[in-house]
Amino acid sequence: MSDSAPAPGTGPDRPVALVTGAGHGIGAALAAKLAARGHRVVAVDVDGEAAERTARACGGLALEADVADLKQNQAMVEHAVDHFGRLDTVVLNAGVESGQPPDLPLDPARYRRVLAVNVDGVVFGVDAATAELARHGGRILVTASLAGLAPEQANPVYALTKGAVLAYVRAIAPTLARRGVRINALCPGFTDTAILGVTKLLIRKQRFPLLTPDTVADAALTVLADAGGGQVWTVVAGRPPAPFAFPPLPATLLPDGTEARFRPFLSAPKESTP
Ligand SMILES: NC(=O)c1ccc[n+]([C@@H]2O[C@H](COP(=O)([O-])OP(=O)(O)OC[C@H]3O[C@@H](n4cnc5c(N)ncnc54)[C@H](O)[C@@H]3O)[C@@H](O)[C@H]2O)c1
Repeated sequence: MSDSAPAPGTGPDRPVALVTGAGHGIGAALAAKLAARGHRVVAVDVDGEAAERTARACGGLALEADVADLKQNQAMVEHAVDHFGRLDTVVLNAGVESGQPPDLPLDPARYRRVLAVNVDGVVFGVDAATAELARHGGRILVTASLAGLAPEQANPVYALTKGAVLAYVRAIAPTLARRGVRINALCPGFTDTAILGVTKLLIRKQRFPLLTPDTVADAALTVLADAGGGQVWTVVAGRPPAPFAFPPLPATLLPDGTEARFRPFLSAPKESTP
C-alpha cells in the first residue's frame, strides 16, 4: 500500500467498509486487510455461510444478500448504518463469470444473470450507497477486470459486463464527486480464485503467473487511498498497480478544417434531451 493510505483507525469512530462478494477470493482477502487497517467491516455475499466466515475472521458483520437485487443493495447499506452508525467505503466486488465460453449459443437465463450480478450489482450498489457515503466524503471501488479493457475472446459476455461497469464508473464519477464521493475501478488480471474454474488449468499450462487475492487486495487498498475519482487501475503480476491511460477521442473535423471537441456537461436541459 502507498504511503498516503489512511492510517489504521482506532476507537468507536473507526471507518466502516462494506465489501460485496466478501465470502471468497479477492473480496475475502480485502475484507481481512481493511479490518487489519482498522476498518469495521460488513461482509456481504450471496453465500451466507461464506460471508459469516469472513466476518468472523475479521471481527465484522456478515450479511447474506444478492447484489442483483436493488432492494437487497438498499438493505445492505441500511444494515451497515443501523449496526455501525455510518458507512465510509463500499467495495462493489461481487461477480460471476458467464459459464458458457465463448457465450454461444446464448443461454438467455444465464446471460441475464451475469448482467444482473456484474452490472446491476454495481449500478444498484452505487445507487444504494451514495447518499450515506456523501455524508462522510466516502469512497466506492468497483472490481472490474482487464477483460473490460482488452478483448476477452474466451468470454465475451463477461467482457461485456466488465466494459460496462468501467464506462459507468468513468461517466458517473463527476456526479458523485459533486457530492463528495470518489468512485474508481480496479482491473485485475487472472487471479487465483474459484471464478476462473477450468480456465485456471489453461492458464497454468501456459505457465502464465496468476495474481493472488492478497496482491489484488493490496492494489485495492492503494486505489482506495490514492485514486482521485473516475480512474481505472490495472493490476498485473510483477508490477505495481497503476492508473490506466485511455487515449483521447479523435476530435471532430469541421468543414473549415478546424477541430471541435465536445465539452461534457453534467445535466442536459429538458428540451434538448433526445
Ligand atoms: N479471479 C480473477 O481472475 C478475476 C480477474 C479480474 C476480475 N475479477 C473480479 O473480481 C471479483 C471477485 O471475484 P473473485 O475472483 O474473488 O471470485 P470468487 O468467485 O472467489 O468470489 C466472488 C464472490 O462473489 C460472490 N457472489 C457471486 N454472486 C453474488 C451475488 N449475486 N451477490 C453477492 N455476492 C455474490 C460469490 O459468492 C463469491 O464469494 C469479481 O467481480 C470478478 O469478476 C476476478
